[in-house]
Amino acid sequence: MDPKVYCNKCDNFLDSYSGSLFDLSFLDPPFNQKKEYSLHNDDMLSSEYWSWMERICKLIYKHTSDGGAIYFMQREKNTKHILSILDKSGWTFQNLIIWQKKTSAVPGTKRYGKHYQVIAFYTKGKKPRIFNKLRIDKPLLVTQREARPNGVFVTDVWDDIRELTSGYYAGDEPLRHRNGERVHKQQSPVKLLTRIIISSSKVNDLVFDPFVGTGTTLVAANQLHRRAIGIEVDPENVEFIKRRLTNVRNADLISKFRKDYRHTKNLDAVWPVADMKLKNGEKSTKQISIEI
Ligand SMILES: C[S@@+](CC[C@H](N)C(=O)[O-])C[C@H]1O[C@@H](n2cnc3c(N)ncnc32)[C@H](O)[C@@H]1O
Repeated sequence: MDPKVYCNKCDNFLDSYSGSLFDLSFLDPPFNQKKEYSLHNDDMLSSEYWSWMERICKLIYKHTSDGGAIYFMQREKNTKHILSILDKSGWTFQNLIIWQKKTSAVPGTKRYGKHYQVIAFYTKGKKPRIFNKLRIDKPLLVTQREARPNGVFVTDVWDDIRELTSGYYAGDEPLRHRNGERVHKQQSPVKLLTRIIISSSKVNDLVFDPFVGTGTTLVAANQLHRRAIGIEVDPENVEFIKRRLTNVRNADLISKFRKDYRHTKNLDAVWPVADMKLKNGEKSTKQISIEI
């Protein structure tokens, strides 16, 4: 049941994988935008990059249960590529989620400022095996006097999850070195992975992340009682993941988000209350297997 992280290239891992089928995969790959990665070239030819992504999507498809889901996150300018490669890899389109990240827009001089990232949600086969219709409270519109007593369904526009920006406002969730520098500039918020996992899986399902970075997917899946496998090519990141999972920080506790979903039918089944044990900063003693 404990999450597993493998230090490997995800394509190599997937080529030889013979374990249980994945029920849900989350992909947040390097975006090929010349960012500095110690063990990855983020400046590939575009054609080379997209055929690599297609290969990974095909391999994940092969190892996914019927109705299993994939969530593929990318920059908005790459939307046409991700939709095309997911279609070509056999997946069935469900939604294009707009993650409006609650941070300042990236300004543009000749076009509108960029204010969102896309997350393509596809399934293996026409119908998702699991789709939990989550309900949340949304901030009141100017035309509204009071909140809806039962909240509203989550739609394909997610504007209530903050990105972890580089500065002070990122708070204490980003992993940092002793000198305060971020361990990984692309760390995803646990709140984002919590939403994806509770929407598209059930307890004990297997969640897979081929580009697991700082291990956010594993951190969220573990607290939600899902099994999880993460692949990361950089051994230094793997060491951070190991520490992050064995010594759960308050900033990583997802129990604080549970009340946001209180109007959701069957919430106790989707998100068992047992995870409340982690409240008040209690340390988890969960172990993780490291293979380098
Ligand atoms: C955008 S980051 C993922 C961040 C992650 N969502 C998180 O919350 O930390 C992409 C990660 O993929 C890793 N990576 C690059 N090439 C890889 C490969 N072939 N196989 C596995 N991991 C790889 C990078 O080292 C980087 O940590």
